[in-house]
Amino acid sequence: MSSLQAIRGMNDVLPDQSPVWQYLERQVRSVLDQYGYREIRMPVVEPTALFKRGVGEHTDIVEKEMYTFEDRGGDSLTLRPEGTAGCVRAALQHGLLHNQVQRLWYQGAMFRYERPQKGRYRQFHQIGAETFGIASADIDAELILLSARLLRNLGLADHVTLHLNTLGSNEARGRYRKALVDYLEAVKDKLDSDSQNRLYSNPLRILDSKSESTQALLNEAPAFDDFLDEASREHFSTLCSLLDRAGVAYEVNPRLVRGLDYYSRTVFEWMTDSLGAQGTVCGGGRYDDLVPLLGGKPTPAAGWALGVERLILMLETLEKVPASVHDTVDAYLILAGEAAQPFGFVVAEELRSKLPGLRLITHCGGGSFKSQMKKADKSGARFALIIGEEEAAAKQVTVKDLRTETQQVTLNTEDLMAELGAKLA
Ligand code: HAM
Repeated sequence: MSSLQAIRGMNDVLPDQSPVWQYLERQVRSVLDQYGYREIRMPVVEPTALFKRGVGEHTDIVEKEMYTFEDRGGDSLTLRPEGTAGCVRAALQHGLLHNQVQRLWYQGAMFRYERPQKGRYRQFHQIGAETFGIASADIDAELILLSARLLRNLGLADHVTLHLNTLGSNEARGRYRKALVDYLEAVKDKLDSDSQNRLYSNPLRILDSKSESTQALLNEAPAFDDFLDEASREHFSTLCSLLDRAGVAYEVNPRLVRGLDYYSRTVFEWMTDSLGAQGTVCGGGRYDDLVPLLGGKPTPAAGWALGVERLILMLETLEKVPASVHDTVDAYLILAGEAAQPFGFVVAEELRSKLPGLRLITHCGGGSFKSQMKKADKSGARFALIIGEEEAAAKQVTVKDLRTETQQVTLNTEDLMAELGAKLA
C-alpha cells in the first residue's frame, strides 16, 4: 500500500458508492426545482473574518474547528465550515438582495476539525437552501415542507423527527441569557466542564448540553417561554399552524438552540435515532440579523442544510436505496477476432448516436471471447453484444440477455437499434 493516504476524516467516494450519492443529489435537486430554488456556487475558501463574524466568535466551529491558514500574500483564509455565511457574502457582493426575494440552494464540501467518527467527518458535504427577503413565517414553513417532502421521497419519513423551537428576538434572548446566567452561576460547580466554559461566552448552548446532570439542573432554570417577545410568539404560532395544516408532525423542543450564533426566532432539526450519536441529518432556521452583520441592509433570511453523508448512511442502514440505482451499464460490447474491432467501433458509435440513453461499454484491450464474456457479466450490464469473426463478416451483432435464459439473437445493425431501443424503453 502506498504511504500516501487521505487525511483523517476526509473520505474518497469510490465508483461503487457514487451512484448512491448521485441518486440522493438527483432527489434533492428535483424537490428544490419543484419549489423554484436556484443554484448558487460559492468558493470553498473564504476570508477568515467572514466566519468569525458570521458564525460567531464563541461557537465551537470558530473556536476549535476551522481549517485556517495564511496564504502566500499573508491573508488569513478558511476552508468553509458551512455554507450560509458564504452564500450571504456572495448574495451581498453581487447585489442579489436589493429589493428582491431569493430562493437559493448550494451543495458542496464543508470542513470542520472535529473528532472523526461514524457520521462525523472533517470533510463532509452539505446541500443547503437559503431564502432572503421574506420576514413572515410562511417561508419558514415552506423550507420545512420542502425538507419533509425530500425525506418522504427518500423513504425516510418514518425514521426522522422534526424538532422545532423559537429563539425569539435579540432583545428577548438577551434578557433570557442574563436570567439563565444568574441562575447557573449559583450552581456553577455542578455543571459539566464544557458548560462551565460556556457560561459567560455562549450560555444558551448549555441548554442542549449532552450531560445528564446539567440537563437535570436545567429543569429548575428560568424558561425561555417567559421571556419570549410577542411578535416572535406570533411568528412561531403561525409556523406551527401552517405545519399542522400541511400534516407535518413536529416536537417543540425548548432546549434546541443550534451551534451557530446567527439564528433568531425559528430553529429546527430533523433527527434520527438510526445513526447513533450523530443524529441530526438536517438543521436550520431563521437568521434575520446575519445580512446586516455582514454589511448589508436589514434583510430577513431563513434556510437549512442537510448532511449528505448522514443521509446516505441512513439510506444504506435502512436499505432504502432502490436496487436500480446500481445499474449503471446497459450493454457490454464484446469484440472477438481481427475484423470485429473496426466494425464494432462503428456499430458502437452508431448506437450512441441513435440511442443517446444507452449506456454502452465497448470492450478494449483484447483478450479471448471467454474473458470478455466474464467482464461483461461483471460489469452488471443487462446485455452482451457480441461481434465475432462471423458477425463481422455478415455485418451483424449477436444480442445475449445476461439476466434471463432467453435465446440469443443475431441481428443486422438496424434491427439491433430497434431491439435495444424497445428493450430499454
Ligand atoms: P449545521 O447544523 O452545523 O448547520 O450543519 C448542517 C448539517 O450538516 C448537520 O445537520 C449534519 O447533518 C451535517 N454536518 C455537520 N457537521 C458534520 C460533520 N462533521 N460530518 C458530517 N456531517 C456534518 C449549518 O451548517 C447551517 N449553515 C445550516 C443553515 C443553513 N442554517 C440556515 N441556513
